[in-house]
Amino acid sequence: MSHNLLKGKRGIIFGALNEMSIAWKVAERAVEEGAVITLSNTPVAVRMGDTLKLGEKLNAEILPADATNVEDLEMVFSKSMEILGGKIDFLLHSIGMSPNVRKKRPYDDLDYDLMMKTLDISAISFHKMLQVAKKMDAIAEGGSILTLSYIAAHRTFFGYNDMADAKALLESITRSFGYIYGREKGVRINAISQSPTLTTAGSGIKGMEDLMDFSERMSPLGNANADDCADYCIVMFSDLTRKVTMQTLYNDGGFSSMGMSLRAMKRYSNNEIEEFKNEKGEISYG
Ligand SMILES: NC(=O)c1ccc[n+]([C@@H]2O[C@H](COP(=O)([O-])OP(=O)(O)OC[C@H]3O[C@@H](n4cnc5c(N)ncnc54)[C@H](O)[C@@H]3O)[C@@H](O)[C@H]2O)c1
Repeated sequence: MSHNLLKGKRGIIFGALNEMSIAWKVAERAVEEGAVITLSNTPVAVRMGDTLKLGEKLNAEILPADATNVEDLEMVFSKSMEILGGKIDFLLHSIGMSPNVRKKRPYDDLDYDLMMKTLDISAISFHKMLQVAKKMDAIAEGGSILTLSYIAAHRTFFGYNDMADAKALLESITRSFGYIYGREKGVRINAISQSPTLTTAGSGIKGMEDLMDFSERMSPLGNANADDCADYCIVMFSDLTRKVTMQTLYNDGGFSSMGMSLRAMKRYSNNEIEEFKNEKGEISYG
């Protein structure tokens, strides 16, 4: 259902590869809410993935670009302003990849050239995007910029490897650039820290299904899926959140505030876990 939250706004969405991509859902919701957008992904992803299909469906131009390449990013911003007819109101950086994870290099045997690529693709590309946008004065006053993170930026998760370092850097860039861009241009920059989600990037994580089961059991509201994330992004792009900036915002069903839940504990217990009953005989899950 549309609330016209982005009516008249112009946006750029980076990272929609296929229907499972979080960026795909965000692009669909943004257009539904009245925005006009351009889409960007690597030339290889545009050739091999379904980005073109999404472009047709949403009547959005595709601008192939490697987000680690400054000239490519300059092209994306100048063409987007030309196509959409003015400065950009919102932008989604939904990009992540670790060649070390792909090549199954464990964290204590990393290839450092590959680690530099992980950091460049998954975190520094965000800085490049922000710096290019600011130098070109491409973002409108009060504009909203989002990137997607994961709680492994703060806590250690088996198998997340050098992506954890990339997410820590990504969240730091969100704060550092958020200060400068906010102060000078009123532009807000936030990271949404999302539940594990079944996507192409997500399925690269070791033990993804078990991880999803664990966080589902730990989270009082259950895991947030890509549609939930898209809804949150729309609110963050809208004028309803105009004073929110430099934050890591958790869209994780409550996972980040939990230590242990009954549903998770039941998984590990050999004995029946005693459930508490109140005087009416109702079970309490305290
Ligand atoms: N899936 C999850 O469990 C999960 C959880 C939290 C955060 N995230 C984050 O969400 C973001 C989107 O990932 P997703 O899960 O939708 O997976 P996805 O595989 O659909 O998206 C990743 C995108 O990054 C793009 N990309 C890779 N290298 C690039 C480059 N050099 N330049 C431009 N684009 C490039 C890919 O083409 C792809 O479209 C990532 O930052 C990811 O870390 C995902």
